Amino acid sequence: MKILMVCLGNICRSPLAEGILQKEAAKEGLDWQIDSAGTEPFHVGEPPHLLSQKVAVEHGLDLSTQRARRFTKEDFDHFDKLYAMAEDVYEEMMLIGKGNGEASKTDLLLNEVYPGENRSIPDPWYGGEDGFHKAWALISSACTQIIKKYGR
Ligand code: 4NP
Repeated sequence: MKILMVCLGNICRSPLAEGILQKEAAKEGLDWQIDSAGTEPFHVGEPPHLLSQKVAVEHGLDLSTQRARRFTKEDFDHFDKLYAMAEDVYEEMMLIGKGNGEASKTDLLLNEVYPGENRSIPDPWYGGEDGFHKAWALISSACTQIIKKYGR
């Protein structure tokens, strides 16, 4: 499986999703390729937000070597499954893909936990540390479901 996690800046939510799913997949002995990207260019080249890194370290996960990159339409060719962290991100991904069938491999991450509900992970960029803990909890629950669904 090649899985891409996508948010706006690739510094708050999707780096957590990349790190969590990599760790979970490795624990299960799965040879998966997991990456993340952002639909916006503002933070390209930067490491994850310090609060994403802090929350991750509290859970034994080091995100410090990740660097933000921008999502491109070629990502639809390379990855088997692409997850948007939120509805605005999903819509932007569809615009970038320009209707070449990319919707078939793209879903909102939280649809793995709440199928068909199209819930978004609130963007922690605009708040305090609490939002990063909430993002961790939501993303972890979705990654557990992804492993259950595809990890055999
Ligand atoms: P992310 O959060 O999409 O979870 O990485 C954001 C990071 C930066 C900005 C917005 C959201 N920004 O506007 O710079």
